[in-house]
Amino acid sequence: MRENALPAPFSLVAFDRVDSTNDEAKRLAQAGAPPFTVVWAKSQDQGRGRLGRKWDSVPGNLYCSVLVDPGADLALAPQLSFVAAIAVADTLAELVPAAAIAVKWPNDVLADGAKICGMLLEWGGPLIVLGVGINVAAHPVPALYPATSLARLGSGAQPFDVLAAFSDHFGHWVERWKREGFSPIRAAWTARAAGLGQPGHVRLADGTTLDGKLYGLDAEGALLLDTPGGERRRIVAGDVFFAS
Ligand code: BTN
Repeated sequence: MRENALPAPFSLVAFDRVDSTNDEAKRLAQAGAPPFTVVWAKSQDQGRGRLGRKWDSVPGNLYCSVLVDPGADLALAPQLSFVAAIAVADTLAELVPAAAIAVKWPNDVLADGAKICGMLLEWGGPLIVLGVGINVAAHPVPALYPATSLARLGSGAQPFDVLAAFSDHFGHWVERWKREGFSPIRAAWTARAAGLGQPGHVRLADGTTLDGKLYGLDAEGALLLDTPGGERRRIVAGDVFFAS
C-alpha cells in the first residue's frame, strides 16, 4: 500500500492491486475511515460492475472508490451517482476537448457515443462507497455497448492525472449538492444527457424490455420513459439502449 497526495478534503490510499476498490473502501469505512477517503488501485482481481457484472480491471485504467457521507436523508443517497457522472463528464471534457462527452442513465459516461466510464454505488457501513472506473489506456471488448478509452481519443493522461482531475470536479459538485440539493445536479446532468427525446428501450433488471422515448430524470433520479401507449413509466434500475 502507498500513500500519495490529493488535495483536501480527499485523502488517498493507493494500492498496486486489490480485489475491488469498492470492497477495500468498505473495509476502511468499517474501520473508521472518514468521508473523502479515496481508494485507488492500479488493477483489481475482482472488479465489479452494475447488476452483478464483471469489470475488466487490467493495469492502465483508473479504478477508484470514494467514501461519501450521504447526509441525514438516506433516500437521497442515489443522487450521488449523478453528482459523480457530471464530475466525470467535466473531467473528460477537460482531457479530451474534441470528444463529445455525454452522460447516460443511470451512471455511465460516453465519449463520442461509446462507454468510457462506469460507476457502482454501494453502502459501506455508515458511508456510501462510490466506485468509478474510467478507461484510460484500454477498453474492454464491447459487450453490451460500444466502448472507448482516453488513449483511443488521443489523450496521454495517466490514471493518477485522471483521478486528480476527477477529485477536483467531484469535490466541487458534492459541495454544490450538499448546499443546493438535487436541482442543479439534475439540470447539469440533463444538459449533458444522451438520447433525451429519442426513441430507445430499457432492459429491466428482470430481463424484460420496455420501448419508448427517454423523457428525463425525476426528482429522485429515476428515469422517465414515455411508452408508445402514452404512459410515462418511472424506472429505477435497468440498461438503456438507444435506437440506432
Ligand atoms: C458499470 O458500468 O457496470 C459500473 C462499473 C464500476 C467499476 C468500478 S472500478 C472501481 C470500482 N471497483 C469495482 O469493483 N467496481 C467499481
